[in-house]
Amino acid sequence: MTRRRRSSSWSPMEAASSLVALAFLERALAHIFAGWAVKMPVFEVKLVFAAHMHRAIERATQLKSRIHGLCHAVAEEATISQGWQTLLAHVDRSASPAALVTGIYGFLYPRLIEMYRAHVLATDADGDRASLELVRSVLAVIQSERREGLSLASFSDRAAMGKRGREFEELWREREAGKPLALEDALWQPLDRVPAAVRPENSRFCPTGSLGLLPADPLHDPRDIAMLLHKELDEEFTTLELMARNSYEHPEMPWNFHRDMARQASDEARHASMLGRLMRARNVRHGDFEISTASYDGLYEFEPCEKGSRKELVWRMLIRQTFMEGLAVDNLAYDIERRRLAGQTDIVQAFEYILRDEVFHAQSGLRWSREILSRENASLVEARAEAFAYFTARAESAREHFVMENLDEAMAELAVIEQGKAQRGGKRPERPLNRTGRRQAGYTEEDISQIVAWGFARDKSVN
Ligand SMILES: [Fe+2]
Ligand SMILES: [Fe+2]
Repeated sequence: MTRRRRSSSWSPMEAASSLVALAFLERALAHIFAGWAVKMPVFEVKLVFAAHMHRAIERATQLKSRIHGLCHAVAEEATISQGWQTLLAHVDRSASPAALVTGIYGFLYPRLIEMYRAHVLATDADGDRASLELVRSVLAVIQSERREGLSLASFSDRAAMGKRGREFEELWREREAGKPLALEDALWQPLDRVPAAVRPENSRFCPTGSLGLLPADPLHDPRDIAMLLHKELDEEFTTLELMARNSYEHPEMPWNFHRDMARQASDEARHASMLGRLMRARNVRHGDFEISTASYDGLYEFEPCEKGSRKELVWRMLIRQTFMEGLAVDNLAYDIERRRLAGQTDIVQAFEYILRDEVFHAQSGLRWSREILSRENASLVEARAEAFAYFTARAESAREHFVMENLDEAMAELAVIEQGKAQRGGKRPERPLNRTGRRQAGYTEEDISQIVAWGFARDKSVN
C-alpha cells in the first residue's frame, strides 16, 4: 500500500498554534497540580500529582522550544485565546478533591490526548518532523498518566460529572473565544491560600511546641530507626507541598523557576516512595507514630511578610531550602557513612540518592532567593539571618507555651534527649560540614561561615 500524501497538512503557523494550545494545557495542568497537592487528603494522590506536575511542565517546555522553532524566523508569536484560560481556571476552581480528580483525568486528559493525536494526523510529516517525533513519544506517557489518575478511584466522582460535565463542555466549545494571550502570560492568579497542609481524617499529630518524634538511638535501635524514617517521610510530604505552592502562588516568576519547583516536588515524591519502601521492610506504616506538618504549616507564612509577597517566598526558600536542606546535605553525607558501617545497606542506598537531590534543592533555593534579593540589592546572608531570627523566636514561644501547658510531656521529652546523649557517651549529636556538597550546591564561604557560626555544622578543617 502506498502512503497517501496529504495535500492539506498544516502550515508552520497552523502547526505552531496547535503546539501552543498543547503547551498551555500542559502548563496549566502543572499549575493546577501545584495548587492542589497540599489540599488532597490522601498521600498517594499527592505523589501522583507531584510526578504529573513535573512531567507536564517538562512537556510544555519541550513544546515551547518547538513553537520557537516554527515562529522565530518570521518574528511571529503563537498565542492562545482567553477562553483556554477560563476553561482551565474553572477546573482549578473545583469544589472538592474528588471533583478535581474527575475534572483532570476524566475531562482534560482525554482532550489533551485527542489534541496530540490530531497533531500527529494533521501536521506536515517532513516540515514539522521534530514536533511529530516529540508528540509521538509523549502520547504513551500521557495515556498511562490518565489510567493512573483514573485508578485513584475513590477520588474520582463520576456522578459529579453530570452538571459539571455540561459546564466543561460549554467552556470547551468557547475555548477559542476572547483576546489572544501570550503563553507566558496565560496563567491565572492563585485562587486561595492554604496555611495548613491537609491530612487524612483521624490523623494523630505531634502537638505544636512539642519536640516531635524523638528517636533516642536512630542508628541502632530498630524502633528508633523506624521512627526516624517516619519523621523523614513527613519532611518529604511537607516539602513537596510547600514547593508546589511556591510555584502556584507566584505565576509571575520565570518559567525556569516553576521547572525547578516542579522538579523538587517530584523528587520529594520519589523520596517519599523510597522511605515508604524502607518502612514497609521494617513493618512500620505512616501513621503508626504521630505525624507532623510543621515543615509546611510553620513555613507557609510569617508575620513580617505580607501574605503572598515575594518576601514571603524568599523566606520560605531561605529557611527550607538554603537552611534546612543545606543541613540535610551535611547530615546525609555523615549518616550514610555511619549506616554503611552498621550494615544498613538499603538505607544507605536510599540516602545516597536523596543526598544527590538535596544538593539540587539547596542550589535551587540559593539561586532563586539570590535572583529576587539581588533586584533589591539585598544580601542573602542578612536576609537568611532575619528570616531565621523570626523563625526561631516563634518556635521558642510555641515551645514555652507547650512546656507550661504540658509539663509532664516536656519532662518526658527531655528524658529521651538525655537517653540519646548517654548513647553518644555524653556528646552532642555530631554533624560535620559537608563542604564538597555545599560547594556543589553553590554555597559561598560567607554562607558556610554563617551556618558554622550558628553552631549547626562543625567545620573540621578549622576545628
Ligand atoms: Fe527529600
Ligand atoms: Fe529536598
